[in-house]
Amino acid sequence: MKRNITKCRCCNDNLFPFLSFGKMPIANGFLLRKNFKKEYFFDLKVCFCKNCYLFQLFKQPSPKKMFHKNYAFFSETSEYMKRHFKKTANLIIRNFKKRRNFSILELGSNDGIFLKNFKNNNHLGIEPSFNVFKVAKSRGINCINKFFSTKLALKLSKKFDVIYSANVLCHISNIKDAIQGVSILLKKNGVFIFEDPYLGDVIKKTSYDQIYDEHVFVFSLHSVISICSRYNLELYDSERQTTHGGSMRYFICHKGQFKKTNRLKNILKEEKRNRLDRMTTFKKFRNQCEISKKRLLALLASLKKKNKIIAGFGATSKSATTLNYCGITDKTISYIADSTPIKQNKFSPGSHIPIKTYQYFLQNLPDYALLFAWNHKQEILKKNKFFENSGGKWIVYVPKVKIL
Ligand code: TMP
Ligand code: ZN
Repeated sequence: MKRNITKCRCCNDNLFPFLSFGKMPIANGFLLRKNFKKEYFFDLKVCFCKNCYLFQLFKQPSPKKMFHKNYAFFSETSEYMKRHFKKTANLIIRNFKKRRNFSILELGSNDGIFLKNFKNNNHLGIEPSFNVFKVAKSRGINCINKFFSTKLALKLSKKFDVIYSANVLCHISNIKDAIQGVSILLKKNGVFIFEDPYLGDVIKKTSYDQIYDEHVFVFSLHSVISICSRYNLELYDSERQTTHGGSMRYFICHKGQFKKTNRLKNILKEEKRNRLDRMTTFKKFRNQCEISKKRLLALLASLKKKNKIIAGFGATSKSATTLNYCGITDKTISYIADSTPIKQNKFSPGSHIPIKTYQYFLQNLPDYALLFAWNHKQEILKKNKFFENSGGKWIVYVPKVKIL
């Protein structure tokens, strides 16, 4: 089932798509050859709401198509993300754990990478994908296998000091229902902390690959303020994050509970300077996407002309947009190496490029490796120094198409 949304998911104003990436598969829908024929596609179109500033998809496939028992994303595959969640847990421990009967809730607790730091506290995780939920459960994390909603919030009959959510809110199409659920579960002096890829970074870096089926929203401070105000919640602080190629962490409380920080005011000013509240910005972004696509295709074509072998590195969800928007197939990219077992020996969605193990990469080094996991660039380049030392070269396409 496709959801045909023509009204803003937050304020119900009319939506006008300004950019189309064409036919897209489910970004995490890694598949076997026998399933190529019945693969599901939808039109990936993006729009901006001039009224509440929410950058959103026009249509989104139903959540059940994306978050299910075989969900392919395991948070623990990256050392960098493990460190990030440890640091975040320490920040929360420093600021809130002294409270009596401290309790914490995580929305989208995945494999328990974050909540494992709160095993000895009153904690709860909510995770809709069964396979990652099961992993967290086996690690002794208290969690439930459900989609988060107001209905579920009302059933929980308990409130939390901290509600945390990383890379989850941007996936929830019924954002109003989710934020209402948060407002129900947050103690009077509680803090809701969430982080997601940031619109300011997507625009600045032309990282159009952040846009795919699961990411129904790319938030900015402007849009978060709009959504929160509907439920008597208030954004009082925000902090940039380097994760996922540029994210923002939002700190939200019940209205009037905390003083707004200067850090928040400064980022808000910057959003105004960068015109993240104007449609013209997004029309320019559309042109930048086209330029990026042309440059990447030209570079790959010139390398193929010289008979160079090109492989992909990191079969990220993001890469589905890049590969399908640019029309790249296994004629150009021989294989994509990825360390996630559930993706291996399958094919990339839509573009049908074989996914191989890291071991395979080591035994079949290409001349060029196209870094789809560009957000893990530092970690990957460091781990694979030998690749460059043996004459291999990395290609990136964010923020600019280039050979490193
Ligand atoms: P992400 O950008 O959504 O976090 O996905 C990163 C993907 O890249 C994930 O499928 C795991 C893969 N990956 C590797 O194969 N090797 C690595 O060294 C790293 C850091 C990630
Ligand atoms: Zn709106």
